[in-house]
Amino acid sequence: MDIRALGYLRLETTKLEEWRTYTLDVLGMVEASGSTEDTLYLRIDDRSYRIAVQAGTSDRLLAAGWEVANAAALATAARELEAAGFAVKSADAAELAERRVQDLIHVTDPCGNPLEIYWGQAQDHSALGTPYGNRFVAGDLGLGHVVLPVPDVEAALDFYENLLGFQLRDSMKLPPQAVPTATEERDFHLMHFLSPNRRHHSLGLYPAPLPPGIVHFMVELETLDDVGRGLDRMNAAGIPIASSLGRHTNDRMVSFYAQAPGGFQVEYGWDGLIVDPATWVAKEITEDSIWGHHWNG
Ligand SMILES: [Fe+2]
Repeated sequence: MDIRALGYLRLETTKLEEWRTYTLDVLGMVEASGSTEDTLYLRIDDRSYRIAVQAGTSDRLLAAGWEVANAAALATAARELEAAGFAVKSADAAELAERRVQDLIHVTDPCGNPLEIYWGQAQDHSALGTPYGNRFVAGDLGLGHVVLPVPDVEAALDFYENLLGFQLRDSMKLPPQAVPTATEERDFHLMHFLSPNRRHHSLGLYPAPLPPGIVHFMVELETLDDVGRGLDRMNAAGIPIASSLGRHTNDRMVSFYAQAPGGFQVEYGWDGLIVDPATWVAKEITEDSIWGHHWNG
């Protein structure tokens, strides 16, 4: 299977007005054409949208959208998923129109997280015009990364690595064990970081007995000043900072984490590592950050 990138996220929220303020006024995203009173579409690059936030009765991930190159690649993906025993559902015309893609399939990962695999998303060729002059790093690298809860981490890793074809970049024991301890008791779970492209990770698999959903998603900015100004806007807006500024060990991202409306977090970062998949060697990291990233509770 030849997945190329994390293309979009679809979220349901009970707090659409808060999401509007949070994404447009604080994160510096741009409202995309086609937004309605019930659904906010957000641009960060030349795709018609990267995040869709839909008003509803719960706060949850509706789907992580993964992009393939063309119709043949989508047909291959559907065939390989079905051969592996996963139920694949084709989209109807209304879904394709709403998502602004040529074709897509629905599938659920082994832990119940909803995925959409698609090709041919529409572009918006108008100037992005972000509100603070901030610029996002997206394009062919995808929108950023998403971390999903996976109660059965081994089944999830098998699905994303061996079936979807993502490359394992590194893993970390939870809790992190800087000093190696005897591992025979296996009193830890491994968190895994993977990607289908050169972005160090597009997906994190968080081993926790949580319902399907989202732990956090990350968007990357072009400059450290973009991130710093975002942090100032978070503080000015009174939004709780979940983790202070820091630099991660694995993707070298300088970032902070803030609470998002409805319960999960957004990571706002800069300077993420671009890797060469041909030479990459999977590793275990033993700390999540080189400095900073002090968590509030
Ligand atoms: Fe992250």
